[in-house]
Amino acid sequence: MNVLVTGGAGYIGSHTCVELLDQGFGVVVIDNLVNSSAKAIERIEQITGKHVDFYQEDVRNRAALDRIFEKHDIGCVIHFAGLKAVGESVHMPLEYYDNNLFSTVRLCEAMRDHGVRDIVFSSSATVYSSENPIPWKETYITGNCTSPYGWTKYMSEQILRDTTKAVDDFSVSLLRYFNPIGAHSSGLIGEDPRGIPNNLMPFISQVAIGRRDHLNIFGNDYDTPDGTCVRDYIHVVDLARGHVAAIDYMKKHRGESVFNLGTGMGYSVLDMVKAFERVTGVKIPYEIAPRRPGDLPAFYANPDKSAKLLNWHAQYNLDDMCRDTWAWQSKNPMGYGEE
Ligand code: NAD
Ligand code: UD1
Repeated sequence: MNVLVTGGAGYIGSHTCVELLDQGFGVVVIDNLVNSSAKAIERIEQITGKHVDFYQEDVRNRAALDRIFEKHDIGCVIHFAGLKAVGESVHMPLEYYDNNLFSTVRLCEAMRDHGVRDIVFSSSATVYSSENPIPWKETYITGNCTSPYGWTKYMSEQILRDTTKAVDDFSVSLLRYFNPIGAHSSGLIGEDPRGIPNNLMPFISQVAIGRRDHLNIFGNDYDTPDGTCVRDYIHVVDLARGHVAAIDYMKKHRGESVFNLGTGMGYSVLDMVKAFERVTGVKIPYEIAPRRPGDLPAFYANPDKSAKLLNWHAQYNLDDMCRDTWAWQSKNPMGYGEE
């Protein structure tokens, strides 16, 4: 079966392409490279020894989608394409709503018209309302999002749900990711943020390689064991495998499904710094900085539903995540920007 992967040149998309190809799926990628490099596609082919059909197009371009659906026999879509920087979305809400919502709408229309019925969607833990007790379950209330980015995930979930109700046999698996980190163990693909990284792990690894002199830890006075925020970090390869499991699940379970992809374990910012130092032997200088607006003290997943219904469990631990992040960063100090 061929899978159309939107945003397949990106961080999570590229790792998912590798898992799909390794499991015998054909892969067609559409990505406009707004936040990625075509080199990722070459690296996917290098790792797997298999070909990827790649289209550098915008998912909002309906004519391009039509051409792709006509040319390839697509059995399923995984929709990663989107803008994802939370802070940026606050300053550029219209760009975020345009990109993230219209890509989802155009894609659903094209699927409806070309008879493609299965879609896996990259949602986020950010859709959960912060009032929920932790760990978060799929049944907990969503909404009260704290950024336009979060609202685009919330609204895309609704667009997909409504399409599932209206289009015969349409099925969606909404995957709510917690905090993906790490990289493929080959060190050939990984996360390559543009500019100053917003997220913790890419920042730590850029300090380690010497691109930044120290990490700012945003607050150490939270009500958590060591005062720094607690998150559920998950290896990106585990996350990628969750998508393959969701495709499998949809073969027998039609309609809407929603799954958390997290480990169920919470680690603090200081835990992450210490683990990275222990695994890599590289010291990470840090300073305590003011809290970052909008941060929650702690959240992590209840992954029981994914374990039970998808038969999916995260296999990699924190040391694996640190080791593989470092393999990628040390082999590619400037990400894909360096050859
Ligand atoms: P990424 O930026 O590395 O990948 C997204 C890809 O989509 C990029 O290659 C980008 O060029 C492409 N893209 C964006 N808009 C496009 C458009 N209109 N047409 C075609 N291509 C387009 O991000 P990622 O970390 O791999 O995230 C993938 C998905 O998972 C995103 O939807 C993101 O919101 C979601 N997600 C990510 C995280 C995370 O921590 N990385 C957490 C939760 C959810
Ligand atoms: C962020 C997004 C969230 C998204 C998630 C996925 C925000 C407010 N939220 O969540 O919507 O779903 O990424 O990856 O951006 N930290 C530092 N110093 C740094 C960077 C981060 O101390 O330089 C701390 C943060 O305060 C936080 C923790 O590290 O406590 C994790 O941060 P980050 O990697 O940005 O993830 P989230 O905040 O969980």
